[in-house]
Amino acid sequence: MTASEIQIHDKLFREYIPENALHDKVVELAGRINIDFAGKEVIFVGVLNGSFIFAADLFRRIKLKARITFIKLASYAGTTSSGEIRELIGWNEDLNGKSVIIIEDIVDTGVTLEHTVDNLIIRNVKEISIVTLLLKPEAYRKNIHIDYVGFEIPNDFVVGYGLDYDGEGRNLPAVYSLVP
Ligand code: IMP
Ligand code: MG
Repeated sequence: MTASEIQIHDKLFREYIPENALHDKVVELAGRINIDFAGKEVIFVGVLNGSFIFAADLFRRIKLKARITFIKLASYAGTTSSGEIRELIGWNEDLNGKSVIIIEDIVDTGVTLEHTVDNLIIRNVKEISIVTLLLKPEAYRKNIHIDYVGFEIPNDFVVGYGLDYDGEGRNLPAVYSLVP
């Protein structure tokens, strides 16, 4: 195990996206959103748990008249998606007629994203945009367009910067990838 490697439970992870690259990407994404939504009022919807660090870093760089709310969904057990979504904290904000930006930590199969989008559509929002820090294009099975993607990554399990492996690793400041 080298300095850039860490062990979580039974698995070894290696640093994959360093802290400064994450920082630069957050600045870039926030800058694009600030330009694209200039003059508009937006509500960000963060999807817990994984997005909380990305959401905090991104939101603090948003210069718009903006609000943020969170929903809490769970689909993962260990390192594979169960495909079944459980809503642990639901929707409590009035989103009718609002411009909404979904904040995701990672889009894998897209099942979670589709669930979130469907819930916004029935709430009669004006427009839906999506920002995700990470996207696994090889795993993505949906046709929903993702407006802002931080990094496209291979179909490998990652932790850190909010993402966990069985509850641990969220506090790592960089993103780490599973060593096969
Ligand atoms: P999806 O529904 O398959 O797109 O999975 C989305 C959710 O699964 C994400 O919001 C994460 O919470 C979790 N997830 C997907 N891939 C990873 C990963 O590589 N590491 C940690 N969590 C992941
Ligand atoms: Mg998530």
